Amino acid sequence: MTSIAIPPEPDRDCAICPRLHDFIAGWRLREPDWFNAPVPTWLPEGGPQEVRLLIVGLAPGLRGANRTGRPFTGDYAGDLLYSTLTSLGFAEGTFKARPDDGLKLIGAAITNAVRCVPPENKPVGAEISGCRQFLSPTIDAFPNLQAIVTLGSISHQSTIRALGARVAAHPFKHGQRSEVGNRVVFPSYHCSRYNTNTGVLTPEMFINVFKNVRAFLGD
Ligand code: URA
Repeated sequence: MTSIAIPPEPDRDCAICPRLHDFIAGWRLREPDWFNAPVPTWLPEGGPQEVRLLIVGLAPGLRGANRTGRPFTGDYAGDLLYSTLTSLGFAEGTFKARPDDGLKLIGAAITNAVRCVPPENKPVGAEISGCRQFLSPTIDAFPNLQAIVTLGSISHQSTIRALGARVAAHPFKHGQRSEVGNRVVFPSYHCSRYNTNTGVLTPEMFINVFKNVRAFLGD
């Protein structure tokens, strides 16, 4: 029997990135009831072996995942992400922007390239590469992983590097899939409020990425 690795999580007080550690420390004082820690990967109930699709976001939003402790939960980006996942059978239930809303992931897991909330949603290069020590083994923990959706260019580049490939060989381009080893990466513009308000990403463009994933997975 093959043993299944558990995706590794940073320590609650992870200090690999001093700037992010201090930023969170400040928010723990201001909002002691918030989660205020590295946000763990969200898995389906069946555990790592059920995961065939991994979605890689950028980093927790301050008043979203950093407040609630679940990726894309509590800020605008989650509304489009979870309605899309539900419509294509990658999630089940009703997303109510709370970790106790009963929503379940089906065959999919969600993580972030950077696990801690960065000031102004902008992690710096050292933080993105420093947090890859969690992204790489997270990807490796899914023995049945076939597809990865990367949300935005930072997430895409970090994922390509985590897969041991060269970014120049797999540049970020919305909607253009890329084979990396035995996985297929599907890049998408990030489902942020900014991107949808400015028309960079329409709901239709976003749903089409996940329709392509669904067709690729074949069920
Ligand atoms: N929330 C997350 O968890 N990740 C993002 O990339 C954006 C919002």
